[in-house]
Amino acid sequence: MNVLVTGGAGYIGSQVVKELLKKGFKPIIYDNLSTGHKEALLGGEFIEGELSDIDQIDQAIKKHKPKAVIHFAASIEVEQSAKEPENYFENNLLNGLNLLKMMKKNNVSKFIFSSSAAVYGQVKKTPIDEGDPKNPLNPYGLTKLMFEQILSTYKDAYGLKSISLRYFNAAGADPSGRIGQDSKKPTHLITRTLLTALGKYPEIEIFGTDYQTKDGTCIRDYIHVKDLATTHILALKALDKSSFNPVYNLGTGSGYSVKEVIEAAKKITGINFKVKNGPRRPGDPAILVASNKKAKKELGFKPQFSSLETIIETAWQWHKKHPEGYKN
Ligand code: UFG
Repeated sequence: MNVLVTGGAGYIGSQVVKELLKKGFKPIIYDNLSTGHKEALLGGEFIEGELSDIDQIDQAIKKHKPKAVIHFAASIEVEQSAKEPENYFENNLLNGLNLLKMMKKNNVSKFIFSSSAAVYGQVKKTPIDEGDPKNPLNPYGLTKLMFEQILSTYKDAYGLKSISLRYFNAAGADPSGRIGQDSKKPTHLITRTLLTALGKYPEIEIFGTDYQTKDGTCIRDYIHVKDLATTHILALKALDKSSFNPVYNLGTGSGYSVKEVIEAAKKITGINFKVKNGPRRPGDPAILVASNKKAKKELGFKPQFSSLETIIETAWQWHKKHPEGYKN
């Protein structure tokens, strides 16, 4: 079965491509390589393509006749989204609509969407259930929420079957050491911390120490990228059964503070790198921790690599082997 994977050369997409290959699917990777890397691909058919180019999408679908689409390609930086919302609306909404249009035209009716915990914003209770209020704090989270809503209307109007997976904090690297998070412009906590341990940065700055949390720093739910990847295969299978548009939180249900992550990284790397307390980063909610009961019950979601130690250890092995990230 052919599966079109937009953004399949990216951090999570490339891990999903690996799982698809393992399970006997044929991934067709559609990626403009703006942040993805060919080197991250372990197989499948690669198309260097733009989602702004509707004819190119049409041709790719006509040629490869995918039975389903997994849509990763998107702009993902929270802070940047607040500065350049136009780019986020264009890439995450307009380009996504192009994809849906060409799927409809070519009768492809199964869709898996990379959504995000960023749809929730500042929450009143934790862990967060899928039905809890959604008040995104930044344009990035807003585009993810809007696209989920678009999918719901497409279900009613056009019979599109979709599943939206709300990732919490994706982290870690493939335990084989072959695929990981490229480190050219890192913004994520674990990546930046480990690159600091490697000596690429003089210090790691903690963005805010005055939050209403146990140690004053933000709490996040870190989920291993391999656990996310295997869940996409479960979601593909669930699409055959589901007659509605479900959304699922993908997180472990356990939260760690920024300080706890940094301490764990010091222990695992054995390096006592410098840590500096800094001001809050705009748009950061204090706590984001998932309730994953629904994904466990309905998808069979079962995180196996998501202890904080395994996440940091696998990422550490990757960064040590690829201190400059991918070569191409
Ligand atoms: N942080 C630091 N210093 C750094 C980097 C990050 O203190 O150098 C802090 C952040 O302020 C935040 C925490 O570490 O409190 C985690 O930050 P990340 O940038 O690693 O991740 P975010 O929680 O901001 O965002 C990630 C994804 C989003 C997604 C969100 C869901 O990038 O797409 O997880 O929880 F929406």
